[in-house]
Amino acid sequence: MSEQTIALVTGANKGIGYEIAVGLGALGWAVGVGARDGARREAAVEKLRAAGVDSFGVPLDVTDDASVAGAATLVEERAGRLDVLVNNAGVTGGGQQMPSMIDLDIVRTAVETNVLGTIRVTNALLPLLRRSPSPRIVNMSSGVGSLTRQSASTDESTVGPISAAYSPSKTFLNAVTVQYARELRGTNILINAGCPGYCATDLNNHSGWRTPEQGAAIAIRLATLPDDGPTGGFFEDAGVIPW
Ligand SMILES: NC(=O)c1ccc[n+]([C@@H]2O[C@H](COP(=O)([O-])OP(=O)(O)OC[C@H]3O[C@@H](n4cnc5c(N)ncnc54)[C@H](OP(=O)(O)O)[C@@H]3O)[C@@H](O)[C@H]2O)c1
Repeated sequence: MSEQTIALVTGANKGIGYEIAVGLGALGWAVGVGARDGARREAAVEKLRAAGVDSFGVPLDVTDDASVAGAATLVEERAGRLDVLVNNAGVTGGGQQMPSMIDLDIVRTAVETNVLGTIRVTNALLPLLRRSPSPRIVNMSSGVGSLTRQSASTDESTVGPISAAYSPSKTFLNAVTVQYARELRGTNILINAGCPGYCATDLNNHSGWRTPEQGAAIAIRLATLPDDGPTGGFFEDAGVIPW
């Protein structure tokens, strides 16, 4: 097995996920570019290689069991193990998200990708992560999933719009992250949730005030935690985010 650190980033073809791949690649790691669209995936792999990143494409739709199983097989055949998994793929669910008027399909879409997708990918890759000397799992969450922040302020510039799908899906993701940490306590696997801050990407029609590169920093920090680092936490650049 290679001594090179092997990472897989979901939704790495653009936005914050792409910049996470750039950042992990700069550490000399081999980075699997998980992406569902073949052309977008290959374009990202080419761009990363041109930037000096040892990257490889991993066909991956986080909502599809067969696709996720295929991704795990590909990583196993290529590297024999996985050191770092970054569950970055995410969607807002789209549309109007006032609770009183919500289309349940919008909630389903957000939960299917942001929560169930993360569980599906994590469980498929856990056997490979268990072969690593220092496995790390990073779940890209959002500060809008903080119930403390949602309850404390109505200022949309800090807590986002009223959202019955996207924000609760990230709260759900945080809760799942804590449960994984409970199950994995006593192993060498550290799992944490991170918030990139409000970054200009396709997700928000580029309305964010941070760059995707700035947003990637927290994921890189959580991906490179020392063995005595935290697990089951929720972090942004400035530190711990309240649940
Ligand atoms: N931007 C922000 O301000 C912000 C703030 C807080 C948290 N976040 C979180 O950060 C993460 C990255 O967001 P971003 O802003 O970089 O968004 P983005 O530019 O829209 O990128 C999202 C990525 O997820 C992928 N994706 C979506 N559904 C997928 C699926 N079913 N299977 C595989 N990949 C899928 C997309 O692939 P396609 O290109 O195929 O659609 C794309 O690569 C998300 O989890 C988001 O919730 C973002």
